[in-house]
Amino acid sequence: MAIEDLATTLTTVWKFDYETKIKALRELYEVAKKEQWNAAADIPWELEIDPSGDILDPRQDLFREFDFVKALPESEQTNLAVGNAAWILSQFLHGEQGALLCCGQLIEVVPDIDGKLYAATQVIDEARHVEVFHRYLSRLDRVYPIDPTLQAVLNQILQADLWQMKCVGMQVIVESLAMGSFKIMKEGSRDPLLRKIVELTAHDEARHVSYGLIYMKDELPRLPDSDRHRIEDFAFAAVDALSGRRPGTGLLSQMAILDGTGVDKQVAIAEIVEKFADPVFVASQPDPIRDHVLPQLQRIGLISERTAPRYRELGFEIA
Ligand SMILES: [Fe+2]
Ligand SMILES: [Fe+2]
Repeated sequence: MAIEDLATTLTTVWKFDYETKIKALRELYEVAKKEQWNAAADIPWELEIDPSGDILDPRQDLFREFDFVKALPESEQTNLAVGNAAWILSQFLHGEQGALLCCGQLIEVVPDIDGKLYAATQVIDEARHVEVFHRYLSRLDRVYPIDPTLQAVLNQILQADLWQMKCVGMQVIVESLAMGSFKIMKEGSRDPLLRKIVELTAHDEARHVSYGLIYMKDELPRLPDSDRHRIEDFAFAAVDALSGRRPGTGLLSQMAILDGTGVDKQVAIAEIVEKFADPVFVASQPDPIRDHVLPQLQRIGLISERTAPRYRELGFEIA
């Protein structure tokens, strides 16, 4: 589907007091202006991708570990690894568009001039990210559709009725997840082109997370309990969906990479689910939600005594 409508209910806020009120956000705006880069000129696009090398960090490319993959001829395994990289990078591409749409909304809905100006810089950051991931994926020759779970979370953020909810959902949760994932890719990918892309992109995402933390640290304590509880519940629901920790979730759309290989998807899913049911294996894997998203939610007090048990039920350790 080339276009898709999503009805949202935004309240557009004018602000006629142009003086700086949130100094840290204004400083971040200055940093953002200085750190702009050009996706067309600052990436070594002349480099070729070696499909037989590890495009993804081997820790993000678990497919090679599974029996249903090992049973395939070597050339099929390589093709599958490229497909898996394309699937994951496709989700980043679509996620970047979600971020572009959301920070466009933030310009309208946030009530502070410092927040509006900063969000404007993020719009061009996200446009650049869409550009780089699309350009890279065109080299892999395939773009997969957005995962329905990811799209549902992004839609909830885009449709949220509280601007603080959008800010927590996008700037704290999705941005931390992206930053953590890009860091893993930067450390482990053997493709220098992708490494450069995610290095520059992760640098921007770190600024985007800072915006969410600076803004929400002061804003959340001012909210009535009823709104704060709604945001706590919203944060948990997003983490629950994105973590894929409930058995069988989050795998079905990724199995599109098996199309044409002759592998039975149900057999593949059963093997993957079994592997992820082992807590020792899960603990040994990099996990951007555990390592990047939850610490930030804790920093802004969004994992409360009321919601902490739900995170523990998903297997996360909450102090
Ligand atoms: Fe981005
Ligand atoms: Fe971002």
